[in-house]
Formats: sequence, C-alpha cells, structure tokens
Amino acid sequence: MKKLLVAGNWKMNGDSTSVTSLLNSLTGEFDKALDKARFKHCEVLIFPPYVYLAQVADSLRDTQLKLGAQDVDSRDTGAVTGGVAAAMLRDVGCQFVILGHSERRRLFHEDNETITRKFEQCIAHDLCPILCVGESLEQRRTGVTLEVVREQLEFVCDRVGATYMGKAMVAYEPVWAIGTGESAKPEEVEEVHAGIRAYLAGIDAELGASTRLLYGGSVTPENASALLANEDVDGVLAGGASLSGEKFLQVCQAAEMAVLK
Ligand code: PGA
Repeated sequence: MKKLLVAGNWKMNGDSTSVTSLLNSLTGEFDKALDKARFKHCEVLIFPPYVYLAQVADSLRDTQLKLGAQDVDSRDTGAVTGGVAAAMLRDVGCQFVILGHSERRRLFHEDNETITRKFEQCIAHDLCPILCVGESLEQRRTGVTLEVVREQLEFVCDRVGATYMGKAMVAYEPVWAIGTGESAKPEEVEEVHAGIRAYLAGIDAELGASTRLLYGGSVTPENASALLANEDVDGVLAGGASLSGEKFLQVCQAAEMAVLK
C-alpha cells in the first residue's frame, strides 16, 4: 500500500518552549510500535530550524517521525562562517533536506547553480533532497507555469542525472500560494504534477513512475484531503499548519484517510 507523506516546515518560528510543546503534542501519536501508532499509512517528516535539530532528534528517537533540515550549505567543510554542512545534518540525525524553497531563492538569492551544488552535497552525504519548484503569480497569469517548473527541474536533472534524481523528491510550491492562505486548486496541482511526472518519465520511465511529488502552499486540515486525492500527489508540505500540533495532526489524519480510501 502506498504511503502518503506529510512534511512540516517550521521555517524561522518558535523557541525552546514552543518546540517542546509542539513535540509533546506530536510524538505520542507516532509510537514506533506500529500497533500503538495512530498513523500507520503516512510518513511524517518535520523540518525545525537548525538550532533545534539536536533537541528534536532526541525527542523523535522512539517515534516514526523523521527529521529533516530546511537548508544545507553548498560546500563540504571548512572556512564557511555560519555554514552548516550536509555531513553535520546527517550526524545529528537528519534524513531529508528542503532545497530551492522560493523563500531561499528570493531572500538569499539562491540560483539553480547553488541549489544543484546543495543537491550534490545531499547525495554525497546520504540525505534525501526535496527539491522545490514553482511559479510566481505573474508567471501563472501569463500561462508559463509548466515551462518555469520544467526549467527549474531541468537545470538540476541535467547536472545530476537520473540516478541521483531518483534519490530525491520534488515539491511543487507555487510562490503565490505560500503563506497566503490561498492554496492552488486540486486540479491546478494535478496538472503541474502530471507535467512534472511526464518530464521525469521522458528522462527515464522508472524515474517518472517512482519519484514522490509533494504539494506545498497554504495546506490546511480543510484542503488536505482534496489535494491528497489527486493521483499524482504523493504528499504535502505544510508551513503554517505545521506550527500547530492539532492542525498538523489533522493534516496527517487526512493523509491516513486518503490512503485507506
Ligand atoms: P505555507 O508554507 O503552508 O505556510 O503556505 C508552505 C511552504 O512554504 O512549504
């Protein structure tokens, strides 16, 4: 049975008190003993800020929850003040890294070249990259969404090749839907996901069939079921909704129900 994925990107929110209380509301629901776990059919990942990774890793030890980082440096090691290397993330227990998020592209001027080097660091250190792609409102209005998404994907795919791409996931995150309360409609999401899958299948049939495609942008407990009902949606990446234990668990519940349908 296919498992749907739910990822929570906490972004730059919280402090040690709120992190502890969020963890307390989540960890009990994801007991490692499957017969005790409330969620058996979804895979749940959380992405705290760097400084809380070790604390979160500790709390997740006896649960099915998995840990990821919101970013990684494009270099391996050494004189990079403020940098965090892929090996360090692996060392503290991360298995996933979000790459190319539109906030990183916009606020930190990350281009496709930098994102690709980060991708290569992830692969070299056995971390699964979640490559974010997505169009701006202007680009959607002018009808170039599929081209934009394809260009972002193509840059990385051309460089890393199908084998390494096969170790990653892709998250479609329309820029206009992030943090705005205005999610893309399920049919808009399906159109782009089908386009991504077709593009990947054009490189390699197995890559097209097996790459997990997530949707992110104002995912809520209210819209998660409809988004997850799409054939080509393998999971969701929630920002705002992941900061509330109650809402995040409701999104997980929607994923659990979508699998069991
Ligand atoms: P949001 O963020 O759910 O708050 O829109 C999603 C994301 O940026 O991944």
